[in-house]
Order: sequence, then C-alpha cells, then structure tokens
Amino acid sequence: MASTLHGKDILRTDPLTDAELDLILSTAAHFERELDSGQHANRMAGQVMAAMFFEPSTRTRLSFEAAMHRLGGDVITIADPKTSSAVKGESMGDAVRVIEGYADVIVMRRPRKGSAQEAADAVSIPVINGGDGAGQHPTQALLDTYTIQKEQGALDGLTVALAGDLKNGRTVHSLAYVLARFDTELIFVSPPQLRMPARITDGLREMGVTVIETEGLADAVQESDVLYMTRIQKERFEDPEEYERLKGAYVLDSAMLELARPTITIMHPLPRVNEIKPEVDAHPGAAYFRQAHNGVPIRMALLALVTGRN
Ligand code: NCD
Repeated sequence: MASTLHGKDILRTDPLTDAELDLILSTAAHFERELDSGQHANRMAGQVMAAMFFEPSTRTRLSFEAAMHRLGGDVITIADPKTSSAVKGESMGDAVRVIEGYADVIVMRRPRKGSAQEAADAVSIPVINGGDGAGQHPTQALLDTYTIQKEQGALDGLTVALAGDLKNGRTVHSLAYVLARFDTELIFVSPPQLRMPARITDGLREMGVTVIETEGLADAVQESDVLYMTRIQKERFEDPEEYERLKGAYVLDSAMLELARPTITIMHPLPRVNEIKPEVDAHPGAAYFRQAHNGVPIRMALLALVTGRN
C-alpha cells in the first residue's frame, strides 16, 4: 500500500506526521533485520539516486550511497562542487532541473539554509535534505531517534540533554522537533552565544514539552538518560576569535560520567573535534559509532518510502 511519504520531500522534521515518523522507524527496523540476515530484496533496482554535496560530508553521503546500493539501486554523485558546473555560475535551480531527468530522487547538502526547499520547489521528484547550512538535517535526526529507541528501548519518559552549538547545529534543530512529540524533558546546554534559536524553543514549548536551558554540562550529565554532544560549528562563525573562545566550551570525559546514570546513552552526530575525550569510547553507553551505523537502515527506509519501493 502506498504510504503518505510516497513522492514527498524530506526537508525538515517538524512537518512529519506521527504516523510518518512511526512508518520510517518501523521500515528502518525491517531493513536492519534484512541486512543482518544477509537478504537483499533489490527493491530499488533500476532506480537512480543523485547525491549533490556542496559541503563536506562523510557519513551522510556515504551512508546514503550504501543505503541505495543495499536496496539494489544506483547512485550518481557530485561529491565536490568544484567539479560541477556550479563553478561556471549555474544556478541550483537549473542544476536540479537537469538532474531531475537523470535520477528518481535527489539527496543534497548546501551551505545555505532553505536551499533544499528551493530545490524541492524546482523539481517534481523527491528531494531529501542532507543538511541546509544552519537550518535542518532531518535524516540525521531520524537516525538519532532510531538510535535512542534502540539504546533506551523507548522514546517516552526520557530526559535528553542536547549540548554544544545549539544555534548553528542543524542536527539538534531537527532532533528537538522529533523528541518534542514524545513524553520527553529537554535540557539545552550551551554558552549564551550559542543558544537554541528562540523560534525553535518557543515552538517546542507550544508543543507542550518541558525545555530547560542551562550553561552547565555537569548537572545535565547527571540528570539525563541521553546526552547528545555536538561540535562547535566553526564554518558558521563570522569571527574566528569568537570560535577560538567557544570551541572548548564542553569536553566530556570519564570523570564527568562517574556521576551519570549507569544507563546513560552518549551520542554525537560526528565528526567530533574535542567534545568527547577518546577515553569515553569504552563506556558501554557510548553509542556514537553505533549511531553512525544506524544511518544505513534509516536512509534505506527514506529512499524506499519516498520512491514507493518499500
Ligand atoms: C553533522 C552535520 O553535517 O550537520 N554531521 C553529520 O551529518 N553527521 C554534524 C556536524 O558537522 O557537526
């Protein structure tokens, strides 16, 4: 049966319905079981995914490509904008209109907020946002949610701390909107300069979720079921000195975790710079590499659902 996601763009998390979110998570779980059992259903044989990445990416692009290959589909990629006609001055609108004739679905990352929406407006095939500047990163938030569900066994009844660059970090923007649908308490930990945009915090409170804002990481670590660390987003700073002042704002180490709940789940979208000491990797709750691996089944689910091949 066709789902409501068939033919849809995935640009932000806030417009997803609860039913769509459930469907994405359950489809990902199904694909993960298939992957574990070595089955390949080739659901997307004959389909082409175009990946247009105009900002650095390791996990998002490669896990989308892996997902498409696992589904039996094919991939065409612009991994380096310097090799595309963007350097000749071609507009994004023209580029995606051309690519629409080559592919069945477009996954894109660009440095400007709103760019994925613009691309989606220009074409009729589904566009999936792989990160639009400091805007959103919906597919990361979906794999984060999938990870929390797997690690904690539930999405309700949790206290989740999001720490670091909440102003510029697109993953936390998208993730907060997903978590707000559940019975969660959100703790936002950031320096005052890097607070979650008020527009988002206000929207979350309107959704009925409890939001606490603080500068203190240690207290948040003690109170949380899930601690989600983020990188200070160097590339979004206009003033390099400001970045230098803030880059070491939060560093999670083993000593800080001694006071945490024994069942804490520690997450990070990666890449980490210095936010989590390597010594933390041995903690049983250090889930960031498992989290990155969950990107494949989630992106398989998204690709199959938007193209109607689930
Ligand atoms: C994140 C991003 O690109 O927003 N990375 C990712 O996709 N896993 C986080 C970051 O770059 O800090």
